[in-house]
Amino acid sequence: MAGRRDGFVGVFDSGVGGISVLRSLVEELPHEDFRFFGDSANAPYGEKTEGQVLELSCGIVKRFVDEGAKAIVIACNTATSVAAPTLRAAYPDVPIVGIEPALKPAARALPHGRILVMATEVTLRLEKYHELVRAWGGECEVVPVPCPGLAARIEHGDLDAPDVLEMLGRYVGAHAGHVDGVVLGCTHYPFVRRQIAEVLGPDVRFFDGGAGTARQLGARLADTGLLADRDRSGRVEFASSLDTPEELALYERFFSLSC
Ligand code: DGL
Repeated sequence: MAGRRDGFVGVFDSGVGGISVLRSLVEELPHEDFRFFGDSANAPYGEKTEGQVLELSCGIVKRFVDEGAKAIVIACNTATSVAAPTLRAAYPDVPIVGIEPALKPAARALPHGRILVMATEVTLRLEKYHELVRAWGGECEVVPVPCPGLAARIEHGDLDAPDVLEMLGRYVGAHAGHVDGVVLGCTHYPFVRRQIAEVLGPDVRFFDGGAGTARQLGARLADTGLLADRDRSGRVEFASSLDTPEELALYERFFSLSC
């Protein structure tokens, strides 16, 4: 078992978005080694068919498992909704932790609030999202806000450019003054949290699934005896299907951004 404990945790997303989750993972589990894979060549997943997202996700997880990953984090709401059950059935011995829109903490914090759930079209279309609203929405008014094009735009960086604010204005501007909370239900969106707040005003509270996912991974590693047992800090490595020095530099830059 000591051998497996020394293994790495594979983390993936359609692109840079999963780096917002990776930051929470490193904060919660500083002694773990993480390998992050961003499938930027195939982003955005949120506008693909479910079959395409399933095939891409299975390919990435197979590579991680073949390389010896001790656990997997699906740092993508879209891929979690589509592929988590299939992946867990295929690799029953590998803890596989997914992410979902943080509606539960949002509804607890704002029990009668008006809450926007910003996410991809695929995430908001699938039954998993509707189950989440039925289970945790309670007395809240939950408003789904699909944001086509936003994740793809975030992939390009330069997040203070006028077209980003213009796009956010189109998606959420009409809610300004009438919203209590925003669930960032796509892992790309924490990187434009400040810009969304500029559109909606200062009193809106934000929720994302990063910290919950990190706690969940810690619990699964502890339960399965796989927590790293070492003094040194863990290593973080980046890889991308857009395998260029510029893309990897972008990943490192997103990892150092505060969001
Ligand atoms: N970051 C992903 C998510 O959490 C998907 C973004 C995309 O590729 O459309 O849903």
